[in-house]
Amino acid sequence: MLLSNPLAGRWTASLCLLSVLSTLLTPAVSVKEHDFKKCDQSGFCKRNRAFADHALSNSWESPYNILPESRTFKDGQFQAVILKTINDSGETVRLPITVSFQESGTARVTVDEEKRQKNEIELRHDSKARKERYNEAEQWVIVGGLALDREAKVAFEDKTQTTIKYGPSSNFEAVIKLSPFFIDFKRDGHSQIKFNDRGLLNVEHWRAKIEKPEPEKKEGEATDEAKPEETPEEKEEEVKGEDESTWWDEAFGGNTDSKPRGPESIALDISFPGYEHIYGIPSHAGPLSLKETRGGEGRYTDPYRLYNADVFEYILDSPMTLYGSIPFMQAHRKGSSVGVFWLNAAETWIDVSKAKESKNPLTLGIGAKTSTHTHWISESGLLDVFVFLGPTPQDLTKKYGELTGYTAMPQEFALGYHQCRWNYVSDEDVKDVDRKMDKFKMPYDVIWLDIEYTEEKKYFTWDAHSFPDPIGMGKQLDSHGRKLVTIIDPHIKNVDGYHVSAELKSKEFAIKNKEGSIFEGWCWPGSSHWIDSFSPAARDWWATLFKFDAFKGSMKNTWIWNDMNEPSVFNGPETTAPKDNLHFGGWEHRDVHNLYGMTFHNATHHALKTREKGELQRPFVLTRAFFAGSQRVGAMWTGDNQAAWDHLHASIPMILSQGISGFPFSGADVGGFFGNPEKDLQTRWYQAGAFYPFFRGHAHIDARRREPYLAGEPYSSIIAAALRLRYSLLPSWYTAFHQAYVDGTPIVKPMFYTHPTEEAGFDIDDQFFVGNTGLLAKPVTEQDKVSADVWIPDDEVYYDYFTYDTAPTAKGKRVIVDAPLSKIPLLMQGGHIFARRDIPRRSSALMKWDDYTLIVTIGRDGKHAEGDLYVDDGESYDFEKGQYIHRKFVLDGAAKSISSSDAEGRDPSSIKEGGWLKKMHEVSVGKIIVVGASSTWANKAVTVESEGKSWPATLEYTPAAHGRAAFATIKNLKARIGADWKVVVA
Ligand code: GLC
Repeated sequence: MLLSNPLAGRWTASLCLLSVLSTLLTPAVSVKEHDFKKCDQSGFCKRNRAFADHALSNSWESPYNILPESRTFKDGQFQAVILKTINDSGETVRLPITVSFQESGTARVTVDEEKRQKNEIELRHDSKARKERYNEAEQWVIVGGLALDREAKVAFEDKTQTTIKYGPSSNFEAVIKLSPFFIDFKRDGHSQIKFNDRGLLNVEHWRAKIEKPEPEKKEGEATDEAKPEETPEEKEEEVKGEDESTWWDEAFGGNTDSKPRGPESIALDISFPGYEHIYGIPSHAGPLSLKETRGGEGRYTDPYRLYNADVFEYILDSPMTLYGSIPFMQAHRKGSSVGVFWLNAAETWIDVSKAKESKNPLTLGIGAKTSTHTHWISESGLLDVFVFLGPTPQDLTKKYGELTGYTAMPQEFALGYHQCRWNYVSDEDVKDVDRKMDKFKMPYDVIWLDIEYTEEKKYFTWDAHSFPDPIGMGKQLDSHGRKLVTIIDPHIKNVDGYHVSAELKSKEFAIKNKEGSIFEGWCWPGSSHWIDSFSPAARDWWATLFKFDAFKGSMKNTWIWNDMNEPSVFNGPETTAPKDNLHFGGWEHRDVHNLYGMTFHNATHHALKTREKGELQRPFVLTRAFFAGSQRVGAMWTGDNQAAWDHLHASIPMILSQGISGFPFSGADVGGFFGNPEKDLQTRWYQAGAFYPFFRGHAHIDARRREPYLAGEPYSSIIAAALRLRYSLLPSWYTAFHQAYVDGTPIVKPMFYTHPTEEAGFDIDDQFFVGNTGLLAKPVTEQDKVSADVWIPDDEVYYDYFTYDTAPTAKGKRVIVDAPLSKIPLLMQGGHIFARRDIPRRSSALMKWDDYTLIVTIGRDGKHAEGDLYVDDGESYDFEKGQYIHRKFVLDGAAKSISSSDAEGRDPSSIKEGGWLKKMHEVSVGKIIVVGASSTWANKAVTVESEGKSWPATLEYTPAAHGRAAFATIKNLKARIGADWKVVVA
């Protein structure tokens, strides 16, 4: 029974904890939605929803007005004061607002509260917390793009409004209305995004607590949670969103939040007129196109929640929070994408509703456009929102990345297959798996160690009994270019004689509780403390722990997995840290909760980057918790899923959502974390995983061993084929990662992203394109399915990847692709050229000097195909100094020639070749397969021209047959990968 219970499963792994925990926690039986708050259990969410209900059902006028004479505009920045009227006698609160217009065309609206800004408030309970609204999220998240647009100007101003024209071609406009406060962001004269048009702006201002006399208790009356009955006034306040009962403290699951600063939430309605689809705000286990959240058929009843949490396994199709948060949303309609980025790291909820809107009531809604309304609610901090006016999805990912940074260029091994489980039991076990993967010809790059490798969950130590020789283990892996990843979590065991714990305490680098003493809670090691990675000194100390002479047994090929960094605190409220805990700088945990995971991930990344002097390797760190900006320091995975078909299915929209939200290096546990997958599920999962940007098999400690070679035939061979497919396409995956590094383009792309004018594709989230290859994948995620119906987004020709069959189809139709268990539905869109390496090897490192094969897919017009290949040493930062090859390949169909030139137009003589580039002289394009080559390619001679020389190559032509396209195979090319060349077929 315990085995089927995930939480219990965990506990079996930590039996020592069991007895203690069971006294601390209510015994839990399954994954527990009720361990996590619903909106109506989260005081500020409930208040703001009530506020919204009140505003939307009454003749309501927002009490927020800009003071006309406070307005200034200078150097691309509009500044003013919003007055919030707080009572019938007209008393007001001053809220300074800044609207910044940036050179990139992005606008930013920031609203603060003067009293808190000036520290003119009093904290309760002698709290040592800061008084201001949290204003440092920017320091963690924003890395560029803030230069102001000096060309932005006031186009119109009177007593009622200020209109500012801005943007790259001055075609953007912000119409700022004063009374009530409202902003209309327009592009080419049309509204795209509106702030406060429904009047839901709410900044809970500071107020002193008015102590009311405690209600007298009658004898025999329950004491603790019992509340006195509400008065009519209180009921009225509640309806208006002014329910005081959660202003000053709030209890949930046995924990009470002391709220020393009182209520301080911020909320705003953001509308997207004429936009029916919105995407983003990961991570949630639901469809890519976000659902409505205000109840009704097929809708959620709770808002989407962003509050990083250890949810053990997740409920599918739910707005419930998961492990990481990116408050970036894009809205899309035919031909236009716009978006917002809500820079706030506190607990956040987002309500979504859609409405048909017609200007003419007589049309009865026919021809009416659907608009999407969103309502953003955060517990504390500044109101700080960036506005992107598109118009393309690419503009959004690029502009968002300009602010928060692009994906770090990973080492190439990180794109290979990762073999993990909780746990490999010894160094001999690891070495055995390593040998078996070779024996069964299954390529892989990385093997992982979960928490059991340590001595009693003390990170930076090894269990001497089961891992007596980590170096020997590391060396065996290294002999095939393989790596080891070990887990290091942010909780540090609270025990005597453990130097990490002793230093953490003596140096005061741990998170503190509300009294200002070191916070103690429970996690895998039992009693623990948490590193406060907001502190620069703590991060410097953290870095010292990873030096090879400090983390003994680690080697150059050891990399790190950061888990439980939401942070997970087993006995904390909602399994995390109390909100009134204190961090470096005096900020409450409430303010920075969603950032914590990123600061820890960042600290580890920094540690690995500095662990040795001299030659630097790009660090690899996997994280579970994340925030906007985490893409700069590593990869993420979607946490504890289940070995079930619906979890396999759910992984794809989740990964697509990560991609369009700036953090594309993502994957899900292949095989499912909890439970034991049936062999067909496991097989299908490997086929899907071969198309995740991050590809790792993982399993719970109670799950049966399931290394892919254990699956038996035919499963093992099919899985091996999926692994080899991944490896042969690594050059194209690496090229896609490079694109993400350059401009934020997702690595796997949903239909709306590649075909933004094809409305039927806007809610399709089970198929995707890989980089620029034109490869269109639709992994099978249903049991017993032996075909897939792939939606075709355009008039291009599509070929089956494996058979070269031409899909009989047209734009907007669905084509049925055969997909017996052995086959992944994978099509090739005509008009592309992409690179592969076809010699099967044991790891990516061993493929480094292999020749390339190019696949050319002739498009519908037969004339043009193109593609690119990016390659560098796959390890170091030398690519930043020009040590890379980036080729552009072009097919001229009429002339039957294929050429290779520098994709960036660099002059070859300008590149000073280091060792790696020199060695790449030996690497060539050995073969080109031209799929869809017409019969004019038959019996032709081939000449390769390069570097002033020319030589012949051979061509084999295979005519079309039974639906299969004709193709030409050009061999013995010997065309240097780094050189310009032209292959002419005549
Ligand atoms: C968490 C992780 C899981 C890991 C386990 C033990 O549940 O999500 O991947 O195996 O902790 O470290």
